[in-house]
Amino acid sequence: MTPYESLQDTLRAAPRTWLVTGVAGFIGSNVLEALLALDQRVVGLDNFSTGYRHNLEEVQRRVQPAQWGRFRFMEGDIRNLADCQRACKWEGYEGDYEGGYAVDHVLHQAALGSVPRSLADPIATNANNVDGFLCMLTAARDAGVRSFVYAASSSTYGDHPGLPKVEHTIGKPLSPYAVTKLVNELYADVYARCYGFASIGLRYFNVFGRRQDPNGAYAAVIPKWTAAMIAGADVMLHGDGETSRDFCYVANAVQANLLAATATEEAARNQVYNVAVGGRTTLQQLFDALRNALADNGVEYGRPPIHDDFRPGDVRHSQADIGKAATLLGYVPTHDVRAGIQEAMPWYIDFLRR
Ligand SMILES: NC(=O)c1ccc[n+]([C@@H]2O[C@H](COP(=O)([O-])OP(=O)(O)OC[C@H]3O[C@@H](n4cnc5c(N)ncnc54)[C@H](O)[C@@H]3O)[C@@H](O)[C@H]2O)c1
Repeated sequence: MTPYESLQDTLRAAPRTWLVTGVAGFIGSNVLEALLALDQRVVGLDNFSTGYRHNLEEVQRRVQPAQWGRFRFMEGDIRNLADCQRACKWEGYEGDYEGGYAVDHVLHQAALGSVPRSLADPIATNANNVDGFLCMLTAARDAGVRSFVYAASSSTYGDHPGLPKVEHTIGKPLSPYAVTKLVNELYADVYARCYGFASIGLRYFNVFGRRQDPNGAYAAVIPKWTAAMIAGADVMLHGDGETSRDFCYVANAVQANLLAATATEEAARNQVYNVAVGGRTTLQQLFDALRNALADNGVEYGRPPIHDDFRPGDVRHSQADIGKAATLLGYVPTHDVRAGIQEAMPWYIDFLRR
């Protein structure tokens, strides 16, 4: 039995209360689904800036009615401290918790993602990702929650050329987005030093899977290409195709969140961890893998990709060393990139053809 499997048994036997911010987004809604499926109580906070009600509705369809009944959604904004404070409280579902009590665990996913978006609008990215982060961190500290886990990013490795990426060696940020994610880590560390409020940052590496938004100018590469292929449109490939990434299926990111939130060893807390698979896939290989997965599902795509310029702010290669998360959290990814694509593809076909 893996540490994650035994954690799932523990949580089912004695459910806890969780706050998931960014719950209507891609990763947040996947975390929500996993928690509800384990009979947990969940408060969800979102302002629908990049998330969708239909993501929540899909989660509702995928869990039991009783499990859905343990979810409380709050529309609100992490830039507003009062919203963050309210969200840190579980106010019960049968009116039997007078005044409510603090949630046990905060999984902070809300932020404005995308490097290009941050280049276009650094002020909005900073407001959501830095001010919002600080409000959430402060509210969680003051509520006395048991743990605070937040979405950090592999973009923090910036211009450091070393591969694979090891947590303690970072370079300079290459985009406003990367600055905000680095600042999150700095604040988290300072809150541990100054207030004794330890948290855990998860540096996600290109997460993908069901409910990742395929639409809009800032869509991530996997949903964007999949959508183009299903529509029979051109696929635009930035650069020569040799740019590489450690694509991480969302089930692995969910696992990392649950393990991090419940980690009790002192050495595991007040840390940042890479969350990935430890593999490396070039964009050309990704293109081939998506095309093959579509063909397996009866969708043929015959065109080659159209190459254009490298994107500013993008790092050339990214691959994680996941040894730290394995050692300190017991993290064992369940899906490599191919298994993840295989699992996600039927969802994309269904979603994009609706
Ligand atoms: N997807 C990835 O590959 C990846 C990689 C590295 C880091 N991350 C980080 O993971 C987190 C989740 O990303 P995602 O891919 O699920 O993105 P997403 O855009 O699908 O989800 C983010 C959610 O946060 C909400 N949100 C944004 N600003 C908010 C605010 N001010 N108040 C309340 N809610 C707000 C959005 O409406 C959305 O539902 C983000 O912090 C992102 O920076 C993601």
